[in-house]
Amino acid sequence: MRPLLVSFALASMALTAPAVATVKVELSVDVSKTGSKIDRNIFGQFAEHLGHGVYEGIWVGPDSKIPNTRGIRTDVVTALKALKVPNVRWPGGCFADEYHWRKGIGPADRRVVSLNPNWGGVTEPNTFGTHEFLDFLDQIGADAYISVNVGSGTPQEAAEWLEYMTTAQPTTLAKERATNGHPAPYKVAYLGIGNESWDCGGNMTPDYYLSQLKVYSRFVRNFNPAQQDKQQMLKIAVGPGGGEPRWTEWTETIMKAYQHHQWSWDINGLSMHSYTVGQWPPSFASANFGETEYSQILKFTLAMEDLVSKHSVIMDKYDPEKKVALVVDEWGAWYAPLPGSNPAFLVQQNSLRDAILASLNLNIFARHADRVRGANIAQMINVLQAMILTDKERMVLTPTYYVFKMYVPFQDATFVPVALDAGTYTRGDITLPCVDAIAGKDTAGKLWLEITDLDPNEPVEIEVSLAGIRAKSASGHTLTAPKVDSVNTFDAPNTVVPKPISATVQGGKLVLKLEPKSVTVISVEQ
Ligand code: AHR
Repeated sequence: MRPLLVSFALASMALTAPAVATVKVELSVDVSKTGSKIDRNIFGQFAEHLGHGVYEGIWVGPDSKIPNTRGIRTDVVTALKALKVPNVRWPGGCFADEYHWRKGIGPADRRVVSLNPNWGGVTEPNTFGTHEFLDFLDQIGADAYISVNVGSGTPQEAAEWLEYMTTAQPTTLAKERATNGHPAPYKVAYLGIGNESWDCGGNMTPDYYLSQLKVYSRFVRNFNPAQQDKQQMLKIAVGPGGGEPRWTEWTETIMKAYQHHQWSWDINGLSMHSYTVGQWPPSFASANFGETEYSQILKFTLAMEDLVSKHSVIMDKYDPEKKVALVVDEWGAWYAPLPGSNPAFLVQQNSLRDAILASLNLNIFARHADRVRGANIAQMINVLQAMILTDKERMVLTPTYYVFKMYVPFQDATFVPVALDAGTYTRGDITLPCVDAIAGKDTAGKLWLEITDLDPNEPVEIEVSLAGIRAKSASGHTLTAPKVDSVNTFDAPNTVVPKPISATVQGGKLVLKLEPKSVTVISVEQ
């Protein structure tokens, strides 16, 4: 493979015009060398009772003037359907370990009003409960990923919640579900057993959590054998929170126990949480920043690669058949709260930098598709790195939303390795790869390529050699904007939106020019 080339062709042609350096990067893709399936669940979402994530973001109530179906915003549902959201994790986060499901069922006017001590101590009306969440999922076409309360709940409370949702038999709980409007059993595809049990979920040691995990895994069942025949409810244990030694100890403890587990308990996934923060407390601005902060945040986010690799190695030791998935069920950028917002509501802007950050992380997950079979970006609406921002009746789609939309063809595609010399982009003492890329073959056999240009200044000319197919053409969409901190606002919602792009075919190779700081997805016609 030839190394990265830089041509200064224009400089010699025009003495007065500034030199425009075109970086050239060669990629090669051999479609016969396929890898694992890129599980669609790596495109999962997370909706916690936090700030305006659920209330206002999803739920406006049936009497609202904002168009809604049974209280759930129509505009948000329409936007999310286009993402083919595979699953939504709910009700938390830290909120999950203080959530008592009975407060969120029954007639709306008799719901218990409680508090949300984790997130500003505001009142929690419980008007969005089990039925409303599962109705929302039905409207957007996603599976349920329910996190049960291990910290302040009991196995009995969690088991009864699962019976209430899933059983088809005429138990008292099933009858109560029917009285509350849903005679048919619900499906729960994923069960999270606690959340960050090493911290907000109860400050447990790895061994103490392991004993809780065994009990919850044993008794908190899908009580619907007919559903189990089609697809098992996958149980996800709390896993590590980062790269420090204490997190490797956590992964070791759970996976070592899993290696020798008996029939009476089981897990299918190990969760991992890793935010791109930079430093704690979060202090990077989400808007009005420059190239230095752009390069710093991208450097921080690329640490996800080492983290996934490190915990995969431990998992491989105890589970060489890779039965247990690594589920990165909280990830994304966590910046300083927007000035004037309630700091406990984790409100931040979403810029072109976040689009690039999202694509880099999704590519890392795809490259580890054999082990990373689930991920949930934090969070879906109005909180942290959101897909959607709302303000009363107004809604805006963020740059991150468009990345998830562009990546839809990679859902359940087969990973195809890409060989490239990524080149480098340097800002001060930070050096990053200039280009990142993945490829996948969708279920219909079509080849898709994603190429991220991290360099915010230079366009990149990409030349793709293809083995195993003869390309006739290639086209798709590219996402960029004038500045690294460009954002979509309620008044200017189309600053960062995808635009069509196409490649030319020259001597059997695809050639396309990428704009600086861009995310591009194309499909290849043969
Ligand atoms: O996403 C916000 C919070 O971050 C979650 O509630 C918690 O699990 C994590 O610490």
